[in-house]
Amino acid sequence: MRSAVVMVALVALVAHVRCQCFSENDNLDIPASSDLSPITDFGLELFKELFPYNSTSSNFFFSPYSVWNALTLAYFGSGGNTEAELESVLRVTDKVSTLKNWRTLEFLYDMRQRNKSDYTFNLANRAYFDKSVALRPCVEEILQNELALLDFSNPIEAAEEINQFVWNTTKGRIPRLLNPADVSDARMVLTNAAFFKGTWLYQFKTSQTQKHLFYATPEDYHFVDMMSQKGNFRHGVSEELGAHILELPYTGEAVSMYIMLPPFISGENGFNAMVERLNGTLMHEAFDNMWRTQIEVVIPKFKLEQMVENELIDALSRMGINDLFSQQANLTTFAPFENLSVGKSIHKAFVEVSEEGTEAAAATAFISWRIAKPLSPEKFECNHPFLFVIYDNLTKNVLFMGAYKNPKA
Ligand SMILES: *[C@@H]1O[C@H](CO)[C@@H](O)[C@H](O)[C@H]1NC(C)=O
Ligand SMILES: *[C@@H]1O[C@H](CO)[C@@H](O)[C@H](O)[C@H]1NC(C)=O
Ligand SMILES: *[C@@H]1O[C@H](CO)[C@@H](O)[C@H](O)[C@H]1NC(C)=O
Ligand SMILES: *[C@@H]1O[C@H](CO)[C@@H](O)[C@H](O)[C@H]1NC(C)=O
Ligand SMILES: *[C@@H]1O[C@H](CO)[C@@H](O)[C@H](O)[C@H]1NC(C)=O
Ligand SMILES: *[C@@H]1O[C@H](CO)[C@@H](O)[C@H](O)[C@H]1NC(C)=O
Ligand SMILES: *[C@@H]1O[C@H](CO)[C@@H](O)[C@H](O)[C@H]1NC(C)=O
Repeated sequence: MRSAVVMVALVALVAHVRCQCFSENDNLDIPASSDLSPITDFGLELFKELFPYNSTSSNFFFSPYSVWNALTLAYFGSGGNTEAELESVLRVTDKVSTLKNWRTLEFLYDMRQRNKSDYTFNLANRAYFDKSVALRPCVEEILQNELALLDFSNPIEAAEEINQFVWNTTKGRIPRLLNPADVSDARMVLTNAAFFKGTWLYQFKTSQTQKHLFYATPEDYHFVDMMSQKGNFRHGVSEELGAHILELPYTGEAVSMYIMLPPFISGENGFNAMVERLNGTLMHEAFDNMWRTQIEVVIPKFKLEQMVENELIDALSRMGINDLFSQQANLTTFAPFENLSVGKSIHKAFVEVSEEGTEAAAATAFISWRIAKPLSPEKFECNHPFLFVIYDNLTKNVLFMGAYKNPKA
C-alpha cells in the first residue's frame, strides 16, 4: 500500500500592508496537542465538495491532511478577515497553538520514522517566495524550515526546484507537479507533499487473489483481482452511517486502513446515503465501537491516481474560504508591503493497494449474488462501492481518503 499526495497553491499579485508577528504576545506556554480529531470535519466536508460521490463511473483519492497543511501555511501568513475565514474552516483557534501542534506532530512523525524501518510517512511543507518579496524577518525566523526563496522570473528553474522537492518527499511517486507555465508570474507557491508506504500487519497471500466480480451498479460489473484472507480483524457496524466497517492495520500499529462498506440494498443509494451522513463525530464513534472477530476479508487490488486543480479552490470557497483567493486576501503577516493572494491550486494523489507488491495470477470467477442481501457477519466482501481512509490512530487523523466505485473508471 503506497500513497502520495501533493498540494500546491500558486499566488499572484494583489493588495495590502501592515506588521506584527503572530500576536503582540505570542504565548508559548500553551501545551501542545497531537490530537487532530477536530480537523476531521474539514477533510470530510472537502471530500463531499470535491467528489461527485453519486457518480457511478468514477473513483476518487486525495489527502485532506495535505490540503490542510498547505492552507495552514497560508493561515500563518494571514491577517484580518482572511485569517478569520481560514481559522473557521481549518478548525484551528490561534496561530501560536497551531504552530506548536505542528512542531509536535513533526517531531512525532520523525520519531516514528526512525523507529519503524518497514513503515514510511513523509510530510513536508514549503512556502516558496519570489526573491523580490520583502518577508517579515520574524516570520522568516519562525518558519525557517518552511520558507524558501526562488527566482520566479526564471520559471523553468523555479518549477524544477519545486518538482524536485516534491519528488524527494514522495520518493518519486509524484514525479512532476508543476509546469514552468504554472509558476511564470508567481510570487508565492505553497507546497505540501505527503508520502505513505505501509505493509499490512496481516498480509494477503498472492495465491489467494482471484478474479471476482465487482458491482459498480447491479447492471455494471467487471472482473477484478480480489485479494482475500481469513483473520481476526476489528470489525463494526454503524447504523447511523449505514455501513459495515473493517480495520486493516499496517505494521507499526499506528496507522490503519478503515473500510466503510454500505450494504448494496438499493444499488448506489447505500453509498450516497452513507457519504451524506458521514461526519467526524460519527466516524470516530464508529471507529471506537469495533470488536475483534474472525472474518473473511475480500477486497480489490487497486491503484488510483488523482489530479485536482482549481476545483479545489471552488470547493474551498463553498466551504467559506473566499478572501484568500481574491483581491481581498490579507497575507500581511508574511509580507506587509506585498499584494499576495492565492490564484491557483494543484493537488495530485496516488494510491496502490496490493497484497504486498507482487502481481497475482488470475484464476476462477464466480458470480456470488445479484440481489439485495445483508452482509453476512462472517464475510467482509468489498465487491461494490466503498469508502476507505488511511487513518493515524495516535493523532486521530485522516491522512488519505478515497472512494472505490468502479474498476473501469
Ligand atoms: C499593492 O497594492 C497597492 C494598492 O493597490 C499599491 O499601492 C501598491 O503599490 C501595491 N504593492 C505592490 C508591492 O505591488
Ligand atoms: C448526482 O447529483 C446531482 C445533483 O443532485 C444530479 O444533478 C446528478 O444527476 C446526479 N448524478 C447521478 C449519476 O445520479
Ligand atoms: C490585514 O490584517 C492585519 C492583521 O490582522 C490588520 O491589521 C489589517 O488591517 C488587515 N488589512 C486589511 C486591509 O484588512
Ligand atoms: C521510539 O522508540 C523509543 C525508544 O525505543 C520509544 O521510547 C518511543 O516511544 C518511540 N516513539 C514512537 C513515536 O514510536
Ligand atoms: C532532494 O534530495 C537530494 C538528495 O537527498 C538533495 O541533494 C536535494 O537538495 C533535495 N532537493 C530538494 C529540492 O529538496
Ligand atoms: C489506537 O489508539 C488507542 C489510544 O489512543 C489505543 O488504545 C489502541 O490500542 C490503538 N489501536 C491500534 C490499532 O493501534
Ligand atoms: C454528525 O451527525 C450526527 C447524526 O446525523 C449529528 O447528530 C451530529 O450533530 C453531527 N455532528 C456534527 C459535528 O455535525
